[in-house]
Amino acid sequence: MYLLAIHGSPRKNGNTEILLDAFLNGVNQHFIVEKIRLSELNYQPCLECGKCEKQGTCILQDDFQLLYEKILKADFLVIATPVFFYNHTSYVQAFFERFQVFWVRKYLLKLPHPFNKQPKGILLSLGATKGAKIFEATIRSFKYVLDTIYGKYVGGLFFRNIEKKGEILNYPEYLEKAKNLGIQIATLPEEKWEL
Ligand SMILES: Cc1cc2nc3c(=O)[nH]c(=O)nc-3n(C[C@H](O)[C@H](O)[C@H](O)COP(=O)(O)O)c2cc1C
Repeated sequence: MYLLAIHGSPRKNGNTEILLDAFLNGVNQHFIVEKIRLSELNYQPCLECGKCEKQGTCILQDDFQLLYEKILKADFLVIATPVFFYNHTSYVQAFFERFQVFWVRKYLLKLPHPFNKQPKGILLSLGATKGAKIFEATIRSFKYVLDTIYGKYVGGLFFRNIEKKGEILNYPEYLEKAKNLGIQIATLPEEKWEL
């Protein structure tokens, strides 16, 4: 199994990265894992040029080109993002927009998944406030994004009230939960995952 983990915060070693690393600790011995920090890539949002509608590939020659094949090979796609203004970060938004080519391939060009996969999507997110709806926009967006690659959103872990860099370390139970989820997805059937 190949798991592609996307880190969407601009803050290196911040709360979402610590959370993601705890999760990956649980997965690591079992799956092939690749972690990508979006803030280290040079890529653009979708320019709506429409070229993909003819050729089924994206013409933007930037670092995202490295990701297309990884995304299509993934059995699991994990997004770790802090909440920024009731949504995911701009890095994640630009990443999501580049799935337009997959939307075109599926819905306009009627192409099947090239590797016949149905990737499972997992979201790891946190925010500084206690707002009841702070994760809603990202969940909705991620579901729609996953659909373009014949994938399915299976759930996530969400933590509130975490703001300062590294503050999540004050909550070892959250990190334990993330590590356990990693172990569960790698070793247990889906109905036993605590998402
Ligand atoms: C630009 C910006 C916008 C933010 N917007 C929200 C928000 O709408 N709701 C919230 O609960 N936290 C918000 N936060 C707080 C972050 O989600 C929080 O500090 C988080 O722990 C950062 O995670 P990181 O260390 O992985 O970057 C915002 C932070 C920044 C910098």
